[in-house]
Amino acid sequence: MSVTIAQLQKWKQQKKPIAALTATDYAIAKLLDKAGVDMILVGDSLAMVSLGHKNTLPVTLDDMIHHAQAVGRGVENALLIVDLPFLSYQVSTEQAMQSAGRIFKETNAKGIKLEGGYPDMVETIRKLVQAGMPVMGHVGLTPQSVHRLGYRVQGVTPESAEEILDQAKALVEAGIFSLLLENIPAELAAKITDLIPIPTIGIGAGKECNGQILVTHDVLGLSDWQPPFARKYADLQSTITNAVKDYCQDVRQKSDR
Ligand code: KIV
Repeated sequence: MSVTIAQLQKWKQQKKPIAALTATDYAIAKLLDKAGVDMILVGDSLAMVSLGHKNTLPVTLDDMIHHAQAVGRGVENALLIVDLPFLSYQVSTEQAMQSAGRIFKETNAKGIKLEGGYPDMVETIRKLVQAGMPVMGHVGLTPQSVHRLGYRVQGVTPESAEEILDQAKALVEAGIFSLLLENIPAELAAKITDLIPIPTIGIGAGKECNGQILVTHDVLGLSDWQPPFARKYADLQSTITNAVKDYCQDVRQKSDR
């Protein structure tokens, strides 16, 4: 049975942890889905892990849609969420409507994710939700603001912790169905998780969130660099390198395997 947004809400009440991962292509999405991941995010981190950029800023809406369509073909059960990329929604509510609309029209997404909880963004999100588009919020470290925030832990001072808490409340009031908390202190994430009625999904935000998400390339050991909070469950760089070396050797020695 497919995972729904309503089910995520139930799992929060039942205290059933939600397992989420990112995917950028059909093959990986199919494996994650079959392995029982609850939520699959086509994150804009695909700019780095699949397209080789230095940060998430260069990825376009067309790129996101192209990857989301491939991922969608591999997903049967997991809830499919797609990120809106940098500058496809920050300019105006109208721009956000057009971009989000394309995601829902052209992919199999059941929800979209947008970064930020400042007042203009809250109003944009309210309009998207009113237009029937489920939105996941994203606060704390928001990678599309890398040139302003860097990749530092956010919410460390009492003032910035208060600001993130206020943003979380405002986003909930605007109608988001879930909130991603990235790279904030575990105590702050636990407080937000306790206070808001919708599921929180953490990345580098401690174990008290209602669910956890990581970038699949980090989990599988496919990326050159992993953030300190990312747990590595496999070393596919070595596995693939060794397999390819064996293949090259077989070809060069004309050995038939
Ligand atoms: O793009 C991404 O991979 C994300 C992570 C925080 C999961 O948004």
